[in-house]
Amino acid sequence: MARAVERAVMQETATGLGDLRERLDSARSVTVLTGSGISAESGLPTFRGVGGLWRTHRVEELASPQGFARDPRLVWTWYNERRTAHKGVEPSPAHAALARIEERVPDFTLATQNVDSLHVRAGSRNVLELHGKLREAKCTRCDARRPFDDAFDLEAIEHECGGMWRPDIVWFGEALPQDVLEAAFAAAHRADLMLVVGTSGMVQPAASLATKRVTSAYVVEINPEETALTPEVDRSIRARASDVLPQLAT
Ligand code: OAD
Repeated sequence: MARAVERAVMQETATGLGDLRERLDSARSVTVLTGSGISAESGLPTFRGVGGLWRTHRVEELASPQGFARDPRLVWTWYNERRTAHKGVEPSPAHAALARIEERVPDFTLATQNVDSLHVRAGSRNVLELHGKLREAKCTRCDARRPFDDAFDLEAIEHECGGMWRPDIVWFGEALPQDVLEAAFAAAHRADLMLVVGTSGMVQPAASLATKRVTSAYVVEINPEETALTPEVDRSIRARASDVLPQLAT
């Protein structure tokens, strides 16, 4: 019964973080799940915040194997714009705070749905990029991979094996990389504290990491809005990531 009461969602603002800091200080194992809201702090649009459209195209259609098969140059043009946007911004105080928290916690895992590399650039080390990364391309046919720094050359999409270079992103309808997913589930399973930051919790299997089916951790959501995960978490802090995480990191 006490546990049920404790699980009741507490809605609050970023004030009164004292007991969360205590939980963080005493935690042996912490898992963090992030989404595009944390990168909004760096000036990037959230995934659904742009209305699900790029120019006149639905992003779900672009971010799919079918979309790529239909028009690979169009899909690469969209990702090249996003890659340029990612490179043009800096990690936010919220990204930096997570990197500092990692240094204090014996067992720390950061599972992100973001493909913008901002956690890696902020210095986080144990990062699981659930939906891939937009700093690499991979071949549609063989195992070849290559990093790319600036826009991918639209004239060089064809790979010598007969396949095509595509972004190393998990598209709609595709499975997450098995090793990354298993590591994320294992981390969620052993966590005693989980922070869920800046995600609408609408995309599976990432969102399931924060549910009681997967984790027995005390789960704290940090998001200015209510989300699909709100009914599942132990505590919801209605605030921006950079209003909360830097306070926890000091
Ligand atoms: P969404 O756009 O669905 O959700 C962004 C969330 O961030 C919303 O709940 C906002 O309220 C919240 N938010 C906005 N600003 C914030 C701030 N400053 N601090 C904290 N939270 C803030 O994006 P995701 O949940 O990341 O997958 O979307 C998940 C996945 O959906 C993406 O990785 C993508 C998409 O399908 C793939 O491409 C495979």
